[in-house]
Amino acid sequence: MPDTPEPKPSIFENDILKKFFGSPASAPKNSPAPMFTNPNLPRTQATPAPAPAISQPAAPPPEVAAAPVARKRSKPAKKEKIAKVRPPVEPEIPFVADEHFFQRRGRVFSVINQKGGCGKTTTAINLSAALAQQGFEVLLIDIDAQANSTLGYGVRVAPEERTVYHVFRESIFVDQNRTPFDLIRKTAVPHVSLLPSSKFLAGLAVEIPASKDWEYILRNYLAAVKDSFHYVIIDCPPALNALTVNALTASDEMIIPLQTHYFSIEGMKELFLTIRSIQEKLNPLLKNGLILPTLFDKRARVNREMLESIRNYFKDQVLESIIHMNVKLVESAMHGEPVLTYDPTARGARDYRSLAREVILKDDQLFNVKAENVLAKFILQ
Ligand SMILES: Nc1ncnc2c1ncn2[C@@H]1O[C@H](COP(=O)(O)OP(=O)(O)O)[C@@H](O)[C@H]1O
Ligand SMILES: [Mg+2]
Repeated sequence: MPDTPEPKPSIFENDILKKFFGSPASAPKNSPAPMFTNPNLPRTQATPAPAPAISQPAAPPPEVAAAPVARKRSKPAKKEKIAKVRPPVEPEIPFVADEHFFQRRGRVFSVINQKGGCGKTTTAINLSAALAQQGFEVLLIDIDAQANSTLGYGVRVAPEERTVYHVFRESIFVDQNRTPFDLIRKTAVPHVSLLPSSKFLAGLAVEIPASKDWEYILRNYLAAVKDSFHYVIIDCPPALNALTVNALTASDEMIIPLQTHYFSIEGMKELFLTIRSIQEKLNPLLKNGLILPTLFDKRARVNREMLESIRNYFKDQVLESIIHMNVKLVESAMHGEPVLTYDPTARGARDYRSLAREVILKDDQLFNVKAENVLAKFILQ
């Protein structure tokens, strides 16, 4: 949508994030109603813009109207070409992970946000491919019953095939004849393995909390397989349910895709409370999460302002990489492959290469903390 020519005062001027995360009582009396409290509110509350004046078709000039039929029509004037001003694209930073980065193994990242449509699956698919293109062995685990990551790698699972569903099920009904690796399959992308999802997972989110130590099912499974991979990426469902709790209990760090749009902040408070509670009760080594701005459109003012607001509020927790709006990301998923192989020159491919680079580099800083100290503190509590 084109920006309005008359710049209006920004809706972000009073720092909406502070307002949202702070106490509602602290909001000034006459401030507009907090926009996050009612998800059913229509997106625009403002008075509708005046309808554009409908231009009546101009009456034909008399000489044209009266022109005889046989008269040769003059050539229509060529449409004036509007010069497209493309914003300059900064050059891609070349990056090749050196040997040093390959010494670490079994790093588990969950891609999480209970909001649907913010780019979790797109991130899980393409981050795993971008890491694999650097030569890392990657395991992608799809724990969303919609199985979009699975389909995004062109994998279709028949109902009788074994999937991540069996990870959870077999912890209840143990089958001694299987190995944990039975469930993992190779994808068409070198170095990417997949633990596919199935639609049967939907019912499990309600079922598993009945079993003992249900929070640790995925973690226990990963303990057996994760060291065969450098990175494990878990694509979470759009909910804070028992499957998500399993993912966070098994993870070292999270990537939180956040759409650069006003309404995307809704639910972030619950997400951070869940993360804190898991850090306190189940997984003291879980980091605080890295926020990834997604679906960013440079031309839209709301996106630019939201990005600024997110960076001001969450500071270091926000990744430098931004995922721009790019239709190739949609196309490639429909073709059942990551954009990195579908069209390596696409903006989306470039953005996910940048994310992979940042994750690899951050990983280095993040995990050099003395984990034992954190663990000791946890046990003493
Ligand atoms: N950067 C992007 N540009 C354009 N479309 C995108 C982008 N990221 C995601 N999409 C599309 O938006 C929809 C939702 O994305 P998805 O990754 O499935 O979100 P989630 O897993 O959080 O529900 C999908 O159709 C996807 O192809
Ligand atoms: Mg998804």
